[in-house]
Amino acid sequence: MARIGINLYYKNVTSKAIGQDHGITNEQLEDLAKETSPLITQVNRERLSGRTPYRELPYNKEPGQRVKELVKELKGQCENLIVFGIGGSALGNIALDTALRPLLPNPNDKKSMESRLFVLDNIDPDQFGSFLDFIRPKLKKTIFNVISKSGRTSETAAQFMIIREMLINELGKTGYQNQVVATTDTKAGTLRTIADNDKLKKLEVPEGVGGRFSVLSAVGLFSAAMCGIDIDTLLAGARDMDKRVECEDFYKNPAAINAAINYHFYKCGKKMSVLMPYSYALKDFADWYRQLWAESLGKSRDLAGEEVEIGPTPIIALGTTDQHSQVQLYREGPNDKLFTFLQVNNFDKDLKIGPAPDCAPELGFLAGKSLGVLLNKHKKATEYALLESKRPCLTVLFDKVDAYTVGQFIYLFEVTTSFAGALFNINPYDQPAVELGKEATSALMGKEGYEDFAKEIQLKTEIDEDFLV
Ligand code: PA5
Repeated sequence: MARIGINLYYKNVTSKAIGQDHGITNEQLEDLAKETSPLITQVNRERLSGRTPYRELPYNKEPGQRVKELVKELKGQCENLIVFGIGGSALGNIALDTALRPLLPNPNDKKSMESRLFVLDNIDPDQFGSFLDFIRPKLKKTIFNVISKSGRTSETAAQFMIIREMLINELGKTGYQNQVVATTDTKAGTLRTIADNDKLKKLEVPEGVGGRFSVLSAVGLFSAAMCGIDIDTLLAGARDMDKRVECEDFYKNPAAINAAINYHFYKCGKKMSVLMPYSYALKDFADWYRQLWAESLGKSRDLAGEEVEIGPTPIIALGTTDQHSQVQLYREGPNDKLFTFLQVNNFDKDLKIGPAPDCAPELGFLAGKSLGVLLNKHKKATEYALLESKRPCLTVLFDKVDAYTVGQFIYLFEVTTSFAGALFNINPYDQPAVELGKEATSALMGKEGYEDFAKEIQLKTEIDEDFLV
């Protein structure tokens, strides 16, 4: 029997927990079930028609095989693995690494001694320059994985062009070919052309899978496997979650309930959605979720082409750190947010707190307790405080953080996003609004044919001294 691994707990969004004015009543939940149930069938049908190929990633054997072959070939020469990518071509890689590897190297822990991963998803020249200074003497022991579905993303392209020149100059053409893996579209695109032309090692971003839904493809699997993460178990977790999220009984389907609750609160004026892991390992999954939710659900038009300007605003917080920065606002500021906690029941390491110093007997209540217990009591306490202020709270419970539960979590939130898209009646798989900024950058950087566009942008954005103080 499949391990359960993670559950969604939703009592604390109901009127039982926070009263009728803010909580979901039984009748409202019934209405949500009626509205969402046909959409479960619709989303399942869309999957069968091939509209959501991300759903098949946990079942595709071939990419995993190709990733493993490449890992076998490269592992011996790889002390540092560098990922160049941005958005959906980076956030999943970072999240997997933070979740499934120890924070710091430890000779007694094999996984922590695998390749060091650096995901460079920014082009700040000071940061990138300092990185180049660090990596230049280590090029032969470094693998560069450039990830870009389109190959036209200027940040990733620029990083790649810098390192390409450096590798060719320092190691020659063959050296360059040895050190680079290009992960890109199966057939078309600029990076595909370069990879073919330069005879680079290649991995594929499957057709029809957008960046933010691609972490379970070669995009996320290669860096994970290079760093010693068990990608088979990760995919098994996703497959087991698939059985739960395709279920047409609303009350048994955690993705449908999660999406419906988010949709309900948005419609009731709680348009912000705070994800707050009480786990350092899961903190970068909050960043991953923020992109998934924002790019998928923030849309100006619905499926009928009507102007709607819709979309919940995802916010991230980390327990307990942000109890000391945001909870004041969350309790006493506007009641316009839904909270989702990530709670871990069993930590890999748990540490006992030492005795209180004689001069500070007031700390005695902590002595002998474990840090994991303290962390989870903080979660409960924060949840209680929010409930006292009538703020709705969901919790995703992890029995522990491992490849299996992380695979489940990824799949749960991806399918939640599909259901939320269906409830909001928008297309969650495109991101038309991001394109304008990408085009404008190209124009400003002097791309041929974009001269008039560049002038228009200059006119609107140049500094007007009259407004400078
Ligand atoms: O989710 C998405 O589609 C985006 O965030 C992309 O991943 C991001 O813009 C990078 O695009 P590309 O992989 O084409 O470089």
